[in-house]
Amino acid sequence: MTKILMVCLGNICRSPLAHGILESKLNTFKFYVDSAGTAAYHVGHQPDHRSIKVAKNNNIDISHQTARQFNASDFDKFDYIYAMDASNYTNIISLARNNSDIGKVKLFLEENPNISNKNVPDPYYGDMSDFEYVFDLIETTSTIIAKKLLED
Ligand code: 4NP
Repeated sequence: MTKILMVCLGNICRSPLAHGILESKLNTFKFYVDSAGTAAYHVGHQPDHRSIKVAKNNNIDISHQTARQFNASDFDKFDYIYAMDASNYTNIISLARNNSDIGKVKLFLEENPNISNKNVPDPYYGDMSDFEYVFDLIETTSTIIAKKLLED
């Protein structure tokens, strides 16, 4: 089984969307998708209501997800670890124990050659249009990632 982890700061806005969207595209028992945050602020919380809403408007249910904090054991559990932005990337790498750990981590948008800014913007302090923009960015990139994974 191939295991993929999506990581942002709070695990309530961006990575729950990436988790739910990629999962919806990899509907086979060969894949496991999860998400986590580098910070502990929202551990145990449901995704932000705006992420739940934008996902629901696109027929994806993320309301059952629960925020958790990224930890070093995730390097053992996952094959691919995707950081939503450069700050998340740095925080993940700071917990890496060896080169194998480091090799698993990539910026999520590195998979999308059509996007030059490789940071998924944090919509937390924004409004619904920011969440819609983030949804579309994650959706198009997840299509590329899913195609690659399904071809492997
Ligand atoms: P996320 O967004 O990293 O996409 O889940 C954020 C959620 C919460 C906070 C920051 C970003 N916060 O500062 O509480």
